[in-house]
Amino acid sequence: MAYAFEDIRKVGVIGAGIMGAGIAQVLATSGFEVVLNDMSAEAIEKARAGIDARIDRLTEKGRLEPEQAEAAKARLSGSCELSALSDVQLVVEAIVERLDVKQGLFSELEKIVSPKTILASNTSSLSIASIAKACDRRDRVVGMHFFNPVPLMKLVEVIGGAATDRSVIDTTRALAEAMGKVPVLAKDGPGFIVNLGGRAYYTEALHIHGEGVADPAQIDRIMKMAAGFRMGPFELMDLTGMDVNYPVSTLIFEGYKHDRRLATTAGHAYMFEAGLLGRKVGQGFYDYDQDLPKLPS
Ligand code: NAI
Repeated sequence: MAYAFEDIRKVGVIGAGIMGAGIAQVLATSGFEVVLNDMSAEAIEKARAGIDARIDRLTEKGRLEPEQAEAAKARLSGSCELSALSDVQLVVEAIVERLDVKQGLFSELEKIVSPKTILASNTSSLSIASIAKACDRRDRVVGMHFFNPVPLMKLVEVIGGAATDRSVIDTTRALAEAMGKVPVLAKDGPGFIVNLGGRAYYTEALHIHGEGVADPAQIDRIMKMAAGFRMGPFELMDLTGMDVNYPVSTLIFEGYKHDRRLATTAGHAYMFEAGLLGRKVGQGFYDYDQDLPKLPS
């Protein structure tokens, strides 16, 4: 079956967390109808409020006309029911980073959406082929990996699994471009390009901290001032969320057969186990009640 970008008008986004909310916002402001789905009604409500506030800010800054802003808001709806996605042409999944949960969702989705619906995952590290294994139609499963914060970050990795149809990859790439993003084709494998290439910045920083050479604030400052990073590794881990960063790091370490460059630390595991997840809980490497590092604007 051939897929075409021209057929994409309505997109389902599953998972109304940090990433899903950002993806839904950019889709809506780029002219697509969007259905935002989450198993938690509260998450949808919170995402909706955040999206509306960010759209209002774009309008105040003159980056959106008031009527464009209203139209974007009107194109976005939310639902806890997967059946609300029955008429979408493409789904972007942005739920918890667990293979069994993503496989279960993709298999469920196949019963709901049309045979022509593309199933895209925003996974950070799981292989697209392994997610597609749960599907009858593996040719339509693709990786569409956005970066946080989605409205600001231009890059999108587009990943084909072993069975992904070329027209699915081309359609996904065209969708990313229509969202104002710069798509880069990446091979299927642990961490794709960016999360593999960038991993050692985290692990090296964690080791330096673990060995007592410098603390997170010093390392972040040095990476920004001397290496030109917009955010330091610890600030970025707090922004991403340790519930994403630690499992992704572990998966890539295992996927690359315990390559020492990718080894995490006991302190890293502790942050995850202790629930020090970062900004989303108010405490990570930084305490957000007292010491809020500035995000890039
Ligand atoms: P999050 O924890 O902020 O949001 C996940 C949302 O998914 C929650 O609202 C949760 O209620 C919902 N959810 C979980 N299971 C569900 C299900 N079966 N059906 C419907 N909703 C479900 O997570 P975040 O950070 O947005 O990450 C989501 C995905 O995006 C993960 O796969 C992660 O690896 C990936 N990702 C995360 C990045 C980051 O910087 N946080 C960057 C790029 C990718």
